Amino acid sequence: MQLVHTIVETRDTIAAARSRGLSVGFVPTMGALHAGHVSLVEAARARDGFVVVSIFVNPTQFGPQEDLAQYPRTLEADVERCEAAGVDLILAPSVQEMYPEGFATTVHVAGVMEGLEGEFRPGHFDGVATVVAKLLGIVQPDRAYSGLKDYQQLAVVRRLAVDLNLPVEVVGCPTLREPDGLALSSRNRYLSAEERAQAPALYRALQAGAEALRGGGSGQEAAARAKESLASAPRFRVQYLETVDPETLAPHPQAGLPAVLVAAAHLGETRLIDNLIVE
Ligand code: PAF
Repeated sequence: MQLVHTIVETRDTIAAARSRGLSVGFVPTMGALHAGHVSLVEAARARDGFVVVSIFVNPTQFGPQEDLAQYPRTLEADVERCEAAGVDLILAPSVQEMYPEGFATTVHVAGVMEGLEGEFRPGHFDGVATVVAKLLGIVQPDRAYSGLKDYQQLAVVRRLAVDLNLPVEVVGCPTLREPDGLALSSRNRYLSAEERAQAPALYRALQAGAEALRGGGSGQEAAARAKESLASAPRFRVQYLETVDPETLAPHPQAGLPAVLVAAAHLGETRLIDNLIVE
């Protein structure tokens, strides 16, 4: 496995792999890798001959009040995890390498980036879309693997790949959960013991909503049921908990499947997101 910090070295290494006839699978990350990331690497390894992981805490996707400074940076442990998972190349660029002086382009994906995360994290998806477009331009993978936990982010990445004619297949992979249902996230490490004990209530709430939908309830009723369920964990402060259309992410207040329950809530200082697709 190779660890590189520059775009030139990345391109050279990938060109060598391609000349050996290998397809390229790519997993973009911000590091602080956990089993969810490893499952993306495994999905990439199952289909592609050469697996690239990027580790870059992208400053442009954090709002001024957000956790950029505290965001966990654990490069050494991440490199070990990648090595064990069979990654071929890690790109860990500096901010300067990614955003040199004169950098002036923003990728804005209208529609799917509005509402939900887009409403509560203004500018977030411009940062995500821009850095993902750059990373796809650098790595030029055959496939990019992304977790379904960041459901709206996945929709944004799919849209930008289509709209910018990027020759990449975007593969969404299932959310990994702790045994008690909490979705794996690099931010879970911020939770105190007491918060951690309450955290699975978010997934339980989504399950209560899903049950309502499966029983023929409307999207609106399902969201209400989920909110009622979450009220049993009083430390949660909900930002949004809604039923949306799986493709457009527009509100889905009526009955009928498929639909997705999506939620974001603060638990103490930590912001958690989760979702549940109901087919
Ligand atoms: O999901 C993430 O870790 C990030 O948003 C991504 C896609 C790596 C872009 O910085």
